[in-house]
Amino acid sequence: MPQLFDNSCIKSIELSNRAVRSATWTGTGDAKGFVTDFTLDFYGRLAQGGIGLIITGYQYILPNGIQLPFMIGNYDDSQVVGLKKLADTIHAASGKVVGQIVHTGFRANPKLFTVDGDIWAPSEVSDPTVKHPIKVVTKNEILELILAYANAAKRLKQAGFDGVQLHAAHGYGINQFLAPCWNTRGDNYGGSLTNRYRFLGETIEAVRAAIGDDMTLMIKLNGADFVEHGLEIEESLQIGKRLADDGIDAIEISGGSASSGKNLGPVRTKIAHEEDEAYFADMAGHFKDRIKVPIIAVGGFRSPHKIDKILNEGKADYISMSRPFIREPGLLNRWLSGDLSQASCISCNGCFETGLKGKGISCKIDRENMESKH
Ligand SMILES: Cc1cc2nc3c(=O)[nH]c(=O)nc-3n(C[C@H](O)[C@H](O)[C@H](O)COP(=O)(O)O)c2cc1C
Ligand code: SF4
Repeated sequence: MPQLFDNSCIKSIELSNRAVRSATWTGTGDAKGFVTDFTLDFYGRLAQGGIGLIITGYQYILPNGIQLPFMIGNYDDSQVVGLKKLADTIHAASGKVVGQIVHTGFRANPKLFTVDGDIWAPSEVSDPTVKHPIKVVTKNEILELILAYANAAKRLKQAGFDGVQLHAAHGYGINQFLAPCWNTRGDNYGGSLTNRYRFLGETIEAVRAAIGDDMTLMIKLNGADFVEHGLEIEESLQIGKRLADDGIDAIEISGGSASSGKNLGPVRTKIAHEEDEAYFADMAGHFKDRIKVPIIAVGGFRSPHKIDKILNEGKADYISMSRPFIREPGLLNRWLSGDLSQASCISCNGCFETGLKGKGISCKIDRENMESKH
């Protein structure tokens, strides 16, 4: 039975345990998305914590793909220098690093665009989160997007990253092509699942050609979107099957988006008890049963006991966490040393606040504790 502290490989990446740091925007880039010394400090600390694999925060692949401030960009070759420093920093601490790449589609924030640009989407949508006019992408713009994914992946390879993760979850660009609620195109990129999958299939083909057969290519996918006419588990499983056929090396299962109902998004609160943990693990289990590709479950993992249970039940090959590592970058080393008490993160989501202000994400509880001491 797999255990948290097993050694294993995801294709070409050797992992010293089955814990992955799920992609997490850190709010440490500069206004144009370049890696800063602050980014390197942040990841340097994280890399010393003993995590099996670190996936970077989402990197935007075109200037009109940015969503949150101080996001790292991967849309220009001049960004390779900073990305290489980032990969080197993690490798220097014996860590492994995969870069997550994204175009956020209609969730892009035009206030953050550094050059004039439209907000791109597969089709018009009536979604309460849409606050700005949308431009439905033409066939040429679809090809531009695919090329941008391939170029971003190639930069990660040039920068020495161990792998690439396509962000196809959380209601962003690729997810918008996959889900019927956000893709009502009448051409061969919309309609049937085959058509809605076409953009992702062509993206994988272009990315694979750019990075070669040896480099690990992963994806983060929603098992369900939790919106009307969004993806549901059966259709997501069919997508998983296509991903396996198209040579994806690992699938991370998440769910929801900013459009989902209360506390049905990917970053849920109120994880007070072990029963509240691992809120997407059952969906991940369906993928494990049906798709012969390593499966990573994300969402609310907080205790080693629950992690081993999910691994032992065969619901996932790996588990990934985000918020626990914001509060405790050294969490894995703590568990490895024998202190198996659960992560001290209380899942309040206060960590976004400082990130939005350009000070990098940080734990609100720790900040408050510090203030009360002074
Ligand atoms: C501050 C913050 C930033 C995040 N940024 C990303 C991101 O860049 N890409 C992504 O796929 N998910 C992102 N997520 C979601 C996490 O990867 C993860 O799916 C979610 O937080 C659930 O895991 P957790 O309960 O261990 O935090 C972010 C979450 C947080 C809290
Ligand atoms: S602010 Fe701290 S306790 Fe709250 S979710 Fe973020 S890391 Fe966890």
